[in-house]
Amino acid sequence: MSKSGIFTSSIAKKYWMALTGLFLITFLIGHLLGNLQLITKTGEEGRRAFNEYAYFMGHNIFIKILAYATYISILAHAILGLYLAVKNKQARPKNYAYNKPSANSGAASRYMAILGTIILVFICTHMANFWYKQKVAETVPLHYVEVKKVQQGQDPQTMQPVTQEYTEIQALTTMGVYFPVGYINPMTNEKEIQIKPEGTKFKDPQSGLVAAEGYRDLHTVVMNFFGQSQQGQPTNEYALIAVILYVVSMFVLMFHLWHGFASAFQSLGLNHRKYNGLISFVGKAFAIVVPLLFAIIPVMIYLNR
Ligand code: HEM
Repeated sequence: MSKSGIFTSSIAKKYWMALTGLFLITFLIGHLLGNLQLITKTGEEGRRAFNEYAYFMGHNIFIKILAYATYISILAHAILGLYLAVKNKQARPKNYAYNKPSANSGAASRYMAILGTIILVFICTHMANFWYKQKVAETVPLHYVEVKKVQQGQDPQTMQPVTQEYTEIQALTTMGVYFPVGYINPMTNEKEIQIKPEGTKFKDPQSGLVAAEGYRDLHTVVMNFFGQSQQGQPTNEYALIAVILYVVSMFVLMFHLWHGFASAFQSLGLNHRKYNGLISFVGKAFAIVVPLLFAIIPVMIYLNR
């Protein structure tokens, strides 16, 4: 390949890196707004809002297309970035970086590659913990609530009215209503689900027809992951480690975005003397605010659970 060919193709790669990078920035905004519900809404209302949101994100066709574009962008951005970093290193004369680091644009790309690789590892482990369980393995439990009920009846021997308290298990359904699916056995204190779900669908035991579709309880999975106490389970001893790793990863993301935002505009040729100051300011503000808000989420969950 001619020298100009290599030059053109690396320009093209930088262009695609910038485009995918800016697309991932828009993903971050959407993802942050969705996840902030984890700390802005509390109790059963917060649990319901987040699970309904997660269901919508997984079932809306437009969002699904955006999700695939996100996965492709992450892969393309990472592969192109690593390729350019390796090419940069090979093209650099020996000792240059040590003699004149500030004038060496390759140094920035090398740091970006290291930061980007850490973020890639974060995204892989992060997706294994939530996305994989929700979308692939489908191991996220359904959204159940326990409702205290009072049953009125008559003692057959004494003919006296009797009231009996029991706990009904209801599943939150996509029709927006809670659907009774079982009860808590008073002898064993165990959940007895009578209308068994198949995936997320509840079938009527008599007719076999789908009576309702339930939501998955991703909210509880996230809360149990970062929270010190897990619902219905022993104390979560790994919560603090998870929170620290998330906060450190968000610092890495901060440095990556600090350089990446303005650099994307430059690679796309969208820089203009008049607007460069504004782009740089918005980029740096974004680089600080977005990772900071992401980092606050696990910290708040840890402190409040
Ligand atoms: C620290 C706060 C964060 C929380 C609580 C969080 C939570 C979640 C949850 C619950 C899911 C699964 C959604 C589903 O499958 O329906 C998810 C997916 C995902 N997260 Fe995060 N996330 C956080 C930060 C981040 C960051 C900083 C990034 C990127 C650097 C990221 C990248 C992703 C990606 C790529 C997916 C898959 C998205 C999709 O399938 O549409 N997350 N996150």
